[in-house]
Amino acid sequence: MKIIGLAGLGTMGSGIAQVFAEKGYTVIGMEPTEELLKKGNKRIDSSLDRKVQKGKMTVDEKAKVLSNITFTTSLNELANAEFFIEAVSENYDLKANLFKELDGIIKPDVIFATNTSSISITKLAANTKRAEKFIGMHFFNPVPVMKLVEVVRGIATNDETVNTVISLAKELEKTPIEVNDFPGFVSNRVLMPMINEAIFAYMEGVGTPEAIDSVMKLGMNHPMGPLELADFIGLDVCLDILEVLYEGFRDPKYRPCPILRKLVNAGYLGRKTGRGFYTYG
Ligand code: CAA
Repeated sequence: MKIIGLAGLGTMGSGIAQVFAEKGYTVIGMEPTEELLKKGNKRIDSSLDRKVQKGKMTVDEKAKVLSNITFTTSLNELANAEFFIEAVSENYDLKANLFKELDGIIKPDVIFATNTSSISITKLAANTKRAEKFIGMHFFNPVPVMKLVEVVRGIATNDETVNTVISLAKELEKTPIEVNDFPGFVSNRVLMPMINEAIFAYMEGVGTPEAIDSVMKLGMNHPMGPLELADFIGLDVCLDILEVLYEGFRDPKYRPCPILRKLVNAGYLGRKTGRGFYTYG
C-alpha cells in the first residue's frame, strides 16, 4: 500500500498529507477548486519550512516530501488510491455525498477512512458498499506534532481494517488508540464540554478570556487555555462538534453556549479568520 488518496487539504488534510508524504507515501490530494488546492499546497509548504528553519529537515528533503504529493481537483484522479482518507469540513451531507461518489471510483477492496472529529462512522459507512472496510482515523491539530490517532470502529468495521489502520498510524510515528463509535468518540466528548463550559464562564463574567485560559494553563498544566484552544481548532468546528454531541445524546449538558453561536454567525472563527475570543495579527 503506497498510494494514499486524500480529500480535503484544509488544516487537518494538509497535515495528514505532510505526515504520509514524509514517510515516503505518494499522496493524491483533492480539493474541489484550484484556489483551495493552492491554499493547501501553501500550508504544507509553510509547515515544512518550519522544519527546515529549525534544522530538522534539509531543503532537499523538503523538496522530496513535496514531490510525493500530487494535487488535483478531480475525484476520478483518486481511482488508483490504495488507501483513502477523507478530511473535508465537518458536515455530514458533504462527507456522505463524497463517500457515495468515491465508492464507485475507488476499488472495492480499498479501506475508506474518515478524519471526522465527531460524526458517526457507522452512519457514514452506510453510504458505501464497504462498511466492513470503513473506519475513523482521527488526527489532532497540528498533525505533524500531535501523537494521537483515535481509531474509531463502526458497527461493521472488521478486524483486518482496524489492524491495518493501527499499523499505518504507527508507521507515521503516531500512537493509535482504539475506541468505539459514539458521538464525539472519546476525544471530543471530553474536550468540547470543557471548552463549552469555559465559554459559559466567560459569558457569565466569571473571568476574562485571559483569566480563564491562565487558570487552566497554570493550574492544570494545559499547553493552551480552553478559549485559546477553541480559537486554534476553529469556533465553527467547535460548534459543529457540540451540535453533534447535543443531537446525538439529546442531553442538555452539551448545549452549545450562545456566545459561541454568536461568534460563528459573525464570521469570527478564531485564528483562521484573525478573530475569535482573541484577535490575531
Ligand atoms: N505545524 C507544524 N508544527 C508545529 C505547528 C504547526 N501548526 N505548531 C507548532 N509546531 C511545532 C513546532 O515547530 C515545535 O516543534 P519542535 O518541538 O520540533 O521544535 C513544536 O510544535 C512546539 O511548538 P512551539 O514551541 O512553537 O509552540 P508551543 O510549545 O507553544 O506548542 C502547540 C504549540 C504544539 C500547538 C501546543 O500549544 C499544544 O500542544 N497545544 C494544544 C494542541 C491541542 O490540544 N490540539 C488538539 C486540538 S483538538 C483536535 O485537533 C481534534 C478535534 O477533533 C477538534
